[in-house]
Amino acid sequence: MNVLVLYATVEGQTRKIAEHVAARIEGQGHMVVLGDVRDPGFAVPGTFEAIVLCAPIHMGRYPEAFVRFVTDWKTAIEAVPNALVSISLAIHSDNAEERAEAEAYPIHLQHKSGYHPASVHHAAGALKFLEYDFFKRFLMRRIAGKEGGPVDTSRDYEFTDWAALDQFIDAFAGQIAQP
Ligand SMILES: Cc1cc2nc3c(=O)[nH]c(=O)nc-3n(C[C@H](O)[C@H](O)[C@H](O)COP(=O)(O)O)c2cc1C
Repeated sequence: MNVLVLYATVEGQTRKIAEHVAARIEGQGHMVVLGDVRDPGFAVPGTFEAIVLCAPIHMGRYPEAFVRFVTDWKTAIEAVPNALVSISLAIHSDNAEERAEAEAYPIHLQHKSGYHPASVHHAAGALKFLEYDFFKRFLMRRIAGKEGGPVDTSRDYEFTDWAALDQFIDAFAGQIAQP
């Protein structure tokens, strides 16, 4: 089957996750097209038989370009098996309230865009202290410190659980017809 994997990213972790998702689905014999919502080219819904969307949370919301994309394309996305991989740091928190907040992001997206993902997977993202500018590094160090997370800004931290992501993607790929 022809599968579309679309992502939005700010610091690159969601692109890495989307590339992993695309490779995993391709490994099961499907044809996969990977695209960035900011410049999708031919990678738009309508001609694909299944769609996986990947988007990160920044300051409590998905990137505006992503919200606009799913608002515009929701009918075509919902017409085929589809899934949202939501990337955040809060989902990795020990604090149940923080995790509940992360779990609510797709619901806020539904209210805003009208897009109802058929299934959702929450994946933890990364802290990229080495790539942040001064202000972002300061901000993220403070947030991480408050949450009991890492504060050593001399390195990056990746929290993505690749095995859990694979499990979700395998189940999704299992739902769609054989290649
Ligand atoms: C400026 C900034 C704000 C963020 N805001 C949130 C947030 O509100 N909630 C959250 O759970 N994670 C937040 N994060 C964590 C990101 O979701 C995480 O770093 C993710 O890996 C970013 O994906 P990207 O590299 O594809 O942009 C924030 C990260 C940055 C740098």
